[in-house]
Amino acid sequence: MKVTVVGAGAVGASCAEYIAIKDFASEVVLLDIKEGFAEGKAMDLMQTASLNGFDTKITGATNDYSKTAGSDIAVITSGIPRKPGMTREELIGINAGIVKSVSESLVKHSPDVILIVVSNPMDTMTYLAHKVTGLPKNRIIGMGGALDSARFKYRLAEALEAPISDVDGMVIGGHSDKGMVPLTRLATRNSVPASEFLSDERLDQVLQDTKVGGATLTGLLGTSAWYAPGAAVSGLVQAIACDQKKIFPCSVLLDGEYGLSDLCIGVPVVLGRNGIEKIVEINLSDKEKDALQESAAGVKKTNELI
Ligand code: 2OP
Repeated sequence: MKVTVVGAGAVGASCAEYIAIKDFASEVVLLDIKEGFAEGKAMDLMQTASLNGFDTKITGATNDYSKTAGSDIAVITSGIPRKPGMTREELIGINAGIVKSVSESLVKHSPDVILIVVSNPMDTMTYLAHKVTGLPKNRIIGMGGALDSARFKYRLAEALEAPISDVDGMVIGGHSDKGMVPLTRLATRNSVPASEFLSDERLDQVLQDTKVGGATLTGLLGTSAWYAPGAAVSGLVQAIACDQKKIFPCSVLLDGEYGLSDLCIGVPVVLGRNGIEKIVEINLSDKEKDALQESAAGVKKTNELI
């Protein structure tokens, strides 16, 4: 199993690190445009192998896509991250050009690759990757929902004063401050609806805190987050590489599902060796349906910019 991670910045390097630590891939190639940067990160990570107990071989390359040839999965993290006060949508001007050329180069050297798009604005960048590569829809996956759901679970556990392993919850919709749809109605603490423990006001606070999860960190860190994004990507890569058939909310090209078409947006999917093996259509309440439609309208508006 060969995995390429394009962009050796904080998100790409964290992602490579988590993939390596989980020890399911034989090889991870880190690629960056900055001379020597990916090579340096790869060497540093390899020097953790004996300490962290993994055998995954991590190599680095400067903009040489021949080194990525034959990748089973490739993760695109390239582009600029947002600064405090910026929305993800504001990054489109620079990131669209980068994601276009990276996707084309990856597919040229690995025609059977499954692409995972992380660069922002993620739903639009996933849609762009479809347009430029023409890959089948099961092989292009946008990472946002897995991260947003992890942030939702963090906020739920905080409100419930419960261990995170006791809570479950999912965020669908666009990966944007306004577009996320945390499904509070379906959130549980050990199978019991969270609403049995929390007031409507407290649950709404969880929802609001989740939606600005990335922006809160950008304000604190001065740039966008990396540990949780890297861990979320590694979860998707592992589900595909190990054919786990796990459900994650991911940004996928919809063709009538949820009453939506011709856009990529976060909905639950089953991930396995073929990438997206199934789009799972769950019954949403009228309020959730309206929120998803509104989110889709926002994503389509951003798509128009490309
Ligand atoms: C985030 O939400 C990077 O979009 C990513 O932190």
